[in-house]
Amino acid sequence: MEIKRENLIATLGGEESVARMDSEAKADALEDFLSTELDKILLSKDPFPTVAEVEQKIPTRHYRMGVGNLFVAQAPGAKVKILPPMPDKPTLYDFFEKRFAPANHVLQSAALAMKNGMPEEIILACLLHDTAQALLKADHGYWAAQMYTPYVPERTAFAIKYHQALRFFADPAYGYEYPDLYRRLFGEDYVPLPHISADYEMLKNHPWYEAPRLVTVNDYYSFDPKAKVSIDPFREIIGRHFKQPKEGLGNDNSPVAHMWRTIARPDMAL
Ligand SMILES: [Fe+2]
Ligand SMILES: [Fe+2]
Repeated sequence: MEIKRENLIATLGGEESVARMDSEAKADALEDFLSTELDKILLSKDPFPTVAEVEQKIPTRHYRMGVGNLFVAQAPGAKVKILPPMPDKPTLYDFFEKRFAPANHVLQSAALAMKNGMPEEIILACLLHDTAQALLKADHGYWAAQMYTPYVPERTAFAIKYHQALRFFADPAYGYEYPDLYRRLFGEDYVPLPHISADYEMLKNHPWYEAPRLVTVNDYYSFDPKAKVSIDPFREIIGRHFKQPKEGLGNDNSPVAHMWRTIARPDMAL
């Protein structure tokens, strides 16, 4: 998403009022602004770009679109902030509060899934499905599934992994349409990559097709920049289905512990 610094400053009341805000307030304001910008993209009447036009924008940015949210300040001129330290034995809650925050999109997604009476494994998948975007946005469903596999039910990890492929393919039976957002982000003539199409073909006949499909259904339509959801409504589900390692995430010597450590300490130079 292209953010114009002057637009952001203007919506916050100008340079002076921004100077008076503490970093928390600035972060919140930026999140609000990004949500509004996403809304604008969703509601934009501009014609969809082509793949070639999307590619032409690459050298206009100081970062790559696939970079994790923790690693770049997306507004031009903005700086990354000092992150709160993690406790010695970090839990999923610590990661939500200190690294994934504000995490509105996934919280809203999970809230919608809960309201729609989804099974607990799907609500958990919705809660976690985009959290690996802190680490990397490119192929984030696959990264997230790997990161959560040791700790969540198999069906939850499956749903997280394959939401990434299914979101590119409409399914009227579930009321899922190809989102205009993707026409804007990827280009109207975008063809999903071969691994995505191959996974879609595999999923169509898979007995667990519905699991990732339900994530896509509760995903895209759940975005409401004004709604604020806390993690509290999901504590029981997390307690029942998330295997929190007693040493703390990142310290349990699991095959994915390094991924959690990288999110915990994204300022390490090497
Ligand atoms: Fe996603
Ligand atoms: Fe999502």
